[in-house]
Amino acid sequence: MNNVKEKLSVLIVDDEAVIRNGMGRALQGTNAETQTAASGEEALELLDSHAFDVVFLDIRMPDMDGITLLKKVRAKHPFTQIVMITGYPTIDTAVQCVKLGASDYLVKPIRIADFKDALKGLEPGGNRPETHGKDEEGLKIDSEKNIIIGRSPAMKQIFRKIRKVAPTDSTVLITGESGTGKELVARAIHFNGTRRDKAFVAVDCSALVETLLESELFGHVKGSFTGAIQTKHGYFELANHGTFFFDEISNLSLNTQAKLLRVVQEREFMKVGDQKKIKLDIRIISASNTNLRETANEGKFREDLFYRLSVVPIHLPPLRQRKEDIPLFVTHFLDKFSRKIKRAVPHVSEEAMDALKEYVWPGNVRELEHTIERILILEDTDVIRPSDLPSSISRKGGEFQTLSEVPVSLEELEKRYIRFVLRRTKGKKTEAARILGINRKTLGLKVKKYEIY
Ligand SMILES: Nc1ncnc2c1ncn2[C@@H]1O[C@H](COP(=O)(O)OP(=O)(O)OP(=O)(O)O)[C@@H](O)[C@H]1O
Ligand SMILES: [Mg+2]
Repeated sequence: MNNVKEKLSVLIVDDEAVIRNGMGRALQGTNAETQTAASGEEALELLDSHAFDVVFLDIRMPDMDGITLLKKVRAKHPFTQIVMITGYPTIDTAVQCVKLGASDYLVKPIRIADFKDALKGLEPGGNRPETHGKDEEGLKIDSEKNIIIGRSPAMKQIFRKIRKVAPTDSTVLITGESGTGKELVARAIHFNGTRRDKAFVAVDCSALVETLLESELFGHVKGSFTGAIQTKHGYFELANHGTFFFDEISNLSLNTQAKLLRVVQEREFMKVGDQKKIKLDIRIISASNTNLRETANEGKFREDLFYRLSVVPIHLPPLRQRKEDIPLFVTHFLDKFSRKIKRAVPHVSEEAMDALKEYVWPGNVRELEHTIERILILEDTDVIRPSDLPSSISRKGGEFQTLSEVPVSLEELEKRYIRFVLRRTKGKKTEAARILGINRKTLGLKVKKYEIY
C-alpha cells in the first residue's frame, strides 16, 4: 500500500552539471527526492541499487547516448517512467523515443513548469507492481516476489476484477487456454481476500480417478468400503473456511457433477458411508481451458452447475492477443531466473524482442517462461540475440527483423518489401500483387519507380 509520506524518487541523467543542478534545485521543497548521474554508466549503477519512479535522460551524452540508455532502462526496469531531454529536437527522435517506451519528451532550455508537469500524476511507487496504484502493471499474490503481471488493457481489467471480487465470497469461474495463468489468478483472488490465512486447496479434476473421486472429495468413514481402514478427511473438509479451487472442471463426469451441484447449492456434504451432514464454509473458484458454456450446450456439462460456478466469470486471453505483455514477461522471467541461478541479467536485443513478440506462443505464458529459463541456462551471453532463441521463434519475420534497428522512410520500406515479396514469389507479378493487396498495374508502376529488377 502507498505510504503517504513516501517521496517520488527522481533520477536526472545529463552530462551537463548546469542542467543536473538546475533540475535538482527546481524540485527542492516538493514531494520529490532527486539523485543525479553524469553518465549512462553511473545511471545504470544507481538504477541497480535503487527503485526510481521516474528517470530524466539526456539524449546526447559522450559515453553512452540516451537512446541506448533508454533501451537498457526499459528492459531492466519496466516500472520506471522515462522522460527524454534533448537540445536538438527532431520528430524522428521523438517518435523513436516514444516507440521505445519513453513517456515524455522535454526540449532544452527546460522550463521549470514543463519539468514539473512531467511529474504530475506520478505517485511514489505508483508504477511498481507491489503497490496498489490505479493503473499498475502487476498484482501481488502472497509475497513481493510472487506477483501476477501484465500491462495490456485485458490484464489491467483482470487486475481490477480480481481486486473487486477478492474481498467477497463470490464463486468465480476462470477460463483460458493452457498456460495463460488461470491458477495464478485463482491464488491472487484467495490471497487478496479475507480467507488468505486459511487453506487454499487445489484439486485437478483431470487427475482424479472416477472411482476414488468421491472419497477423495468427501472423505469416508472407517469400514465404508473395502480398503477404508480408517476415517479419512476429504479435500472439502481440508478446505473448510478457506478456498476450494477446482482445476480443469470440465473433466468431471456427469455423475460427479450431480454430486458437486448439491455441495455448491447447499454448502454441506456427507462422508462416504456416513449419514451425518457436515456444514461447509468454502469459497469456490473453478478453472477450465475449454469454453464451459459450449461444453454445457453440447450436453457434457450440467447447465445448472455451470450457472452456479460462473457467478463471476474471468477470461484470460491467449498471449498472442496481448502482445504488449510479452516484453514485461520477458524482463520479469529474465530477472527471476537470473537471480535464481545467480548470474547477471542479460539485455535483450531489439531484434530478439521483436521475434519474441511476433511468435504465436501456443503454450502461452508457461511456454514463454520455460523458453527464457532455458536460454538463461544454455546461453552465457550479455545480450540475447535472435540466434540465441529457439529456431521456431527466431525464424519469424524474414528480412524485417533487421529493419527495426535501421530507421528508414516509408518509401524505402515499401521498396524493400516489394523486393522481398517478388523474390519470395520468384518474380511472379500476379502472385506478388495479390500478397501485397494491390493490382498488377500498380505493382508494375512501383517496380519501375523503385527500379526493382
Ligand atoms: N500474468 C502472469 N504473471 C506472471 N506469471 C504468469 C502470469 N501468467 C502466467 N504466469 C506463469 O505461467 C505459468 C502458467 O500459469 P498457470 O499455471 O497459472 O496457467 P494455467 O492457465 O493454470 O495453465 P493450465 O491450463 O495448463 O493449467 C506459471 O508458472 C505462472 O507463474
Ligand atoms: Mg492450471
